[in-house]
Amino acid sequence: MATAEVKSNPNEAWGSRIGLILAMAGNAVGLGNFLRFPGQAAANGGGSFMIPYFIAFILLGIPLMWIEWAIGRNGGRYRKGHLPGMFAAIWKHPAAKYLGAIGLLIPLVVLSYYTVLMSWTLAWTWFSITGDYWGLTTQEQMSAYLTSYQVIGDGSSHDFWVPFLFFFLSLGSTIWILSRGIESGIEKLAKIGMPILFLFAVILAVRVMFLGSGENGVSPVAGLQFIYQPDFSRMDDPKVWLAAAGQIFFTLSVGMGTLQTYASYLSKKDDIALSGIATASTNETAEVVLGGSIAIPAAVAFFGVAGAMQVAQSGSFNLGFVSMPLVFQSMPFGQVFGAMWFGLLFFAGITSSVAMATPIVAFYREEFGYKRETVSWVVGLVALCFGLLSIFWFEYGFLWEWDYWAGTFGLAVVAFIEVVLFMWVFKPENAWHSIHQGADIRIPSIYKFIMTYVTPLYLGIILVWWGATEALPFLRLEGGKGAGGQIPEGGEIYVHASRLLLLAILAFFLVMIRIAWKRNGYDDRVGFREVEDTPLGVAPGKEMV
Ligand code: TRP
Repeated sequence: MATAEVKSNPNEAWGSRIGLILAMAGNAVGLGNFLRFPGQAAANGGGSFMIPYFIAFILLGIPLMWIEWAIGRNGGRYRKGHLPGMFAAIWKHPAAKYLGAIGLLIPLVVLSYYTVLMSWTLAWTWFSITGDYWGLTTQEQMSAYLTSYQVIGDGSSHDFWVPFLFFFLSLGSTIWILSRGIESGIEKLAKIGMPILFLFAVILAVRVMFLGSGENGVSPVAGLQFIYQPDFSRMDDPKVWLAAAGQIFFTLSVGMGTLQTYASYLSKKDDIALSGIATASTNETAEVVLGGSIAIPAAVAFFGVAGAMQVAQSGSFNLGFVSMPLVFQSMPFGQVFGAMWFGLLFFAGITSSVAMATPIVAFYREEFGYKRETVSWVVGLVALCFGLLSIFWFEYGFLWEWDYWAGTFGLAVVAFIEVVLFMWVFKPENAWHSIHQGADIRIPSIYKFIMTYVTPLYLGIILVWWGATEALPFLRLEGGKGAGGQIPEGGEIYVHASRLLLLAILAFFLVMIRIAWKRNGYDDRVGFREVEDTPLGVAPGKEMV
């Protein structure tokens, strides 16, 4: 361990192309598709949300997808599976590696609260199977049931230890799969989990369409109209545009550092142009077609369009955790459908959560030579501690602070940095060439223009706008509000604590990067030594399919 060079060879590789695409899709398809999307769409007026949403997909999502795959694969040439190394590989400047620190901070932070959200889906799967919430037939009752779970010590519907049990199970299974590595952990999970997820989603979407008109005399089809009928009335509302861009980042998993890590296990002979767009399209199908056809139409059939919008605005998880259980209770075999819905969410979640720790695992393996298993379990322990804070201090908005600063604002910051580095520092010609190495398709050249000018400008505007209209007011706790809404009496201290902790984690990673560079004797102005390519980027002896 004391030697300057990391001797062990931690090169990893994907087993097959289909496995890679499923894993990338598993990374992107998550709670964002089935919970966050319907919630955001409904809260922002349905059809009025979808136009800015598709514009953000075309001008931000797709370009960032290609850029991240290319940055990642380029990093892989130097055996760098983490953003500090990847940034340093394209910008030979001492500051580059430190910019990458956010690419370690964000995934760790998001992992620690995402596994908490996942644990709710696991719990609700169990509560559906056992019929635990059967008999709670109004929104108020179901909301109270959810709150009693979220706020520890409330005790009215759930025992104290129940939320912890499901959290341990969710995080534990994530870490276990992670510790098994890329091919036999993550890729295998995706090959099993993704088909199940799609199957459940299709069954549920079909079932929802056969719901009769509810008490309001509204059919589920009205829910589809609500989302898909273009509505230009709120196009001048910047809030809708920001929400749409935020959803695109979150759902495609861009701006985090995880797609880059996945792509670092590819070689320059592998295609990324077609695979990148295939992943993005899979995610959008799962989101718009399937994610849009379950929670919203079901809620609309039950509560009408206005009612569904109200549910969505009252909390981002209420469509999934409050309305859906009411719908299931009215169905024959409702327990089975309920278990399918929450099971689907859990599968969507776990193929994402395993991705989140990969940048940190890559960083410690590549720069310090630690074993994957060791790093995985240490990361798990850290995420456990942070996750417990999210659980204990849920009522003060601790979790939502992290979701905002790391999971929303932070993504746009990373995206902005990487676009500028890749398109401006690395230069458009090199970027374009890099994306097309080994490519199975040629990307229309209009995208070169978009990536060079439109995407960075769009991102810049979003950052400034977000900064002025949301981030600053949140930071100042204007009107007693934090990122999670109204802060309860005496809750400010927890909000400050959550933010300080973010800064502390960032500082920690900055120091770790410095240590890593010193111990490995990297010279920022010279760059890294290239490692040999494994043929086709797949493990020796394996065929690329
Ligand atoms: N895309 C995931 C979802 O829709 C969430 C997510 C955001 C994510 N960034 C990520 C997942 C990074 C894995 C890695 O739920």
